[in-house]
Parts: sequence; structure tokens; C-alpha cells
Amino acid sequence: MTAVGQLRSVVAGVGSYLPERVLTNAELASMVDTSDEWIVQRTGIRERHIAAPGETTSMLGERAARAALADAGLRPEDIDLVIVGTSTPDYTFPSTATQIQAALGIFHGVAFDLQAVCSGFVFALATADKFLRSGSHKRALVIGAETFSRIIDWTDRTTCVLFGDGAGAVVLEARASDGSMAERGVLTTHLRSDGRHRAKLHVDGGPSSTGTVGHLRMEGKEVFRFAVGMVTDVVKDAFAATGVTPGELRWFVPHQANRRIIDMSAAKLGIGPEKIVATVHLHGNTSAASIPLALSVARRDGRIERGDLVMLEAVGGGFTWGSALIRW
Ligand code: ACO
Repeated sequence: MTAVGQLRSVVAGVGSYLPERVLTNAELASMVDTSDEWIVQRTGIRERHIAAPGETTSMLGERAARAALADAGLRPEDIDLVIVGTSTPDYTFPSTATQIQAALGIFHGVAFDLQAVCSGFVFALATADKFLRSGSHKRALVIGAETFSRIIDWTDRTTCVLFGDGAGAVVLEARASDGSMAERGVLTTHLRSDGRHRAKLHVDGGPSSTGTVGHLRMEGKEVFRFAVGMVTDVVKDAFAATGVTPGELRWFVPHQANRRIIDMSAAKLGIGPEKIVATVHLHGNTSAASIPLALSVARRDGRIERGDLVMLEAVGGGFTWGSALIRW
């Protein structure tokens, strides 16, 4: 029998889903005072996907989960842990995770949501990793799923051009490990938060404050200013914990919020531009869904291969921020 401490969480599959409806920058320019040129230059975003009326976060998450299970060659009943990173749940309760669990026909194990805004996927991954390494659970679906279109103020040009809807998922499996860095799996995770910055990035409603869902509000310049520092600190923590150097990384898969934040962070970390996986131009900022969406694209097009060292990082409202280093 494998003793506790000799287990590692290995990525067995990845999948994603984007709603059919595409909203281009040109279309946005007919809704608010903006332009394709401004949006591309400041953010790198060219289009985003918008959920159809009645299409909820759990529906997007279920599609991504099914794609990840297919990629892993597993069935829903093989999963005993479902964690969903989301800030746009179907309902205040029950959790989106239990909705997805039921839709997949999983009637054992445990499912719960995790709220860390754009860091939601990294937080969910780190949490699932700790469950799996403890030996309490065997296979986890880690999902990031969002319908930010439902909390966007579509008259506010400073925010409505930035966000989109989507979902991504990975299957993590506990496997016996000798603890070496060469072995596949999650090698280290680092999570941080600091609640003093709420005003810089928040939603101005909620069940206990206004009794409404509210709209996303952001001081963009301030968020930008903090984001690069937070991202680089937590990625450096991952390097320090493992002894891995930027040169040894094969891929850098950051939260897809803004191309300029991504490029600036990579440059500060000494990570070459050829190692960046950027998909923000295709779907905008999908919050907790953005990292597994990018992973899924890079896996499908053959960039990420088994054994590659992949660094994930995210920063989001709270502030929350985190990193994860994975031997794929
Ligand atoms: N189209 C045209 N003009 C615009 C738009 C728009 N969509 N939005 C703002 N402007 C105008 C502003 O009104 C301002 O005009 P002014 O000079 O006449 O006052 C001008 O453009 C410059 O505005 P800034 O806010 O200074 O623009 P900046 O270069 O900072 O870019 C941006 C704005 C893109 C939002 C940038 O600050 C940014 O990317 N911030 C980080 C945002 C982010 O990544 N958030 C996600 C974090 S993760 C999460 O948890 C959600």
C-alpha cells in the first residue's frame, strides 16, 4: 500500500467549452464608445464568447468536464471529487459543483465550489491536489466555469470589452510517486490573498449586502499595477520551492486577462516569449475558466506534451493570486 506522502496528482485529461455566440470588437464598438484598435492595443482581445439565454455556468462546466473525461479515457463514475472555481454560480445555492456532479451522473464522493475570482482555477487545483495527496480521494475534476456576461455592465466601456464566458476542466488522478521532480504531476502550488484591495476589483452586489447580483467594477490601472508584482512573486515562490529555473520551463500558461500583463510578467520572470501560451485574443478574460481553456488549446494543438514543465499563474479579485508548477 502507498503511504500518505507518496502520492502525486497527475493530469490525466483536459477539456474546454466555449459558447457558440461570438461577440467581436467591431460589434462592441456599435454598443459603446470603443474601437477594435483600442481593445487590441490595450488588451490583445479580439473576440469573446457569450452564453446563450438560459445557458448557465454549470452547463458550460459540464461540457468542459465531459471533454476532459473523454481526453482522460475515464467515465464520470471514476470521479470522486469535483471542485468548481466560479464567481458566477447558477444560483446562490446549491453550488455549481453539485449541479455539474448531478448532470454527469456522479452520485458518490463530494463536490463543492471555490470562490477566488480569476484565481479560482489555481485555487481549485491546489485544493484538489491536497485532497488527492492525502489519500482521501482518487480522481478529481477541477473545473473553471464562468458566465461573466451576466455580471457585466454592458454600458461601461472600461469593463465590458474585457470579459467573456467559457469553461475548462482537468482530471487529476492520485498516483504513487517516488517524489522525484522528473515524475509527472503537480510539483508545487502557492496561494496568496489580501483583502485590503476589494474596491479595486469587485462586484457591487450580493445576497447579504444588496440582495442583488450586482455588476463588476474595476479600477483597471490599479489592478494592472498590482497584477504584475503579485504574479511574479508567486511564480518565484514556485521556482524557489522546487529549484526549477525559468530556463527549464517548457510552457508558461498564465491567467488570460490581458496580453500586456502576460508579456510584462513573463519578461520580468525571465521566461522567453516563445514559452507563453496566450489565448486571450480568442475568448477575452473568462476569469476562473481562462487557464484550463488555454491548457486545452495548447494540448489539442500539440504544444504541451507529456513530461513538459508547465507553470500556471493567476491573479484575481480579492486580491487573490497563485501559481502551480506541473510536470505534464
Ligand atoms: N475604449 C476606448 N477608450 C477607453 C475604453 C474603451 N473600451 N476604456 C477606457 N477608455 C479610455 C479611458 O476613458 C481613458 O480616457 P481618457 O484618457 O480620456 O480619460 C483612456 O481610455 C485610458 O484609460 P486607462 O484606464 O488609463 O487605460 P489603460 O491603458 O490603463 O487600459 C485597461 C485600461 C485595459 C483596463 C488596463 O488598465 C488593464 O488591462 N487593467 C487590468 C485589468 C485586468 O486585467 N483585470 C482583470 C483582473 S483579474 C479578475 O479577477 C477579474
